Amino acid sequence: MRIVLVGPPGAGKGTQAAFLAKNLSIPHISTGDLFRANISQGTELGKQAKAYMDAGNLVPDEVTIGMAKDRMEQPDAERGFLLDGFPRNVAQAEALDAMLEAEGMQLDAVLDLEVPEDEVVKRIAGRRICRNDSAHVFHVTYSKPKTEGVCDICGGELYQREDDSEETVRKRLEVYHTQTEPIIDHYKGQGLVVTISALGKVSDVTERAMEALRGER
Ligand code: AP5
Ligand code: ZN
Repeated sequence: MRIVLVGPPGAGKGTQAAFLAKNLSIPHISTGDLFRANISQGTELGKQAKAYMDAGNLVPDEVTIGMAKDRMEQPDAERGFLLDGFPRNVAQAEALDAMLEAEGMQLDAVLDLEVPEDEVVKRIAGRRICRNDSAHVFHVTYSKPKTEGVCDICGGELYQREDDSEETVRKRLEVYHTQTEPIIDHYKGQGLVVTISALGKVSDVTERAMEALRGER
């Protein structure tokens, strides 16, 4: 399956993507994670992306589209993929449409995670991520690690993302409403959008998502 996951910052895209990708046996491709990996490795791409991310702005399309395309061309993505954080504006959605069309491929669904803004703010404020693997995501109250500051999965150190400050989160939400939400209408035009509530237990949201995707297969 080829799926796009969309939703505001902190909706739980990364959290859900980890479970959905496993259930569906497809790779989880997160442009945010790819940028963060480049930053921690000190690559040129990471240097270009960092200032935009720290300010809560989108990294320019010239950089982002090429990086996403390279990742989607890896052998493990031949059987499908779950895109998390890409596309993030209409130009990126159009670039993805063209990429898929050139390969004779199509998206199966765009899964839209709906969460009220006050909940998103609470989720981001308490989020802690593992230094070893950004798929290891915790929350100081909702999904507490057994030992404070330590990853339950691998023992790595947990940290708070630099762009999770209150001011940057406000900016990211504004960017989501103005630039990312329009892609939902773009994909509604293709009949691909399934919207689910992302409130409630993580496992309940996964079940809701799997149910919604089953209808799309
Ligand atoms: P990115 O990394 O994609 O961030 P985002 O979209 O803002 O999303 P988040 O990672 O903040 O949230 P999430 O929805 O994954 O939530 P999570 O599962 O962690 O992008 C970062 C930046 O990179 C952008 O601002 C931009 O600069 C750049 N970028 C990336 N892609 C780009 C693109 N295509 N073009 C241009 N620039 C790009 O969950 C959040 C918290 O809630 C966690 O603590 C979790 O434990 C908790 N939680 C999750 N589910 C639940 C639940 N059901 N109940 C209670 N708590 C929950
Ligand atoms: Zn870890």
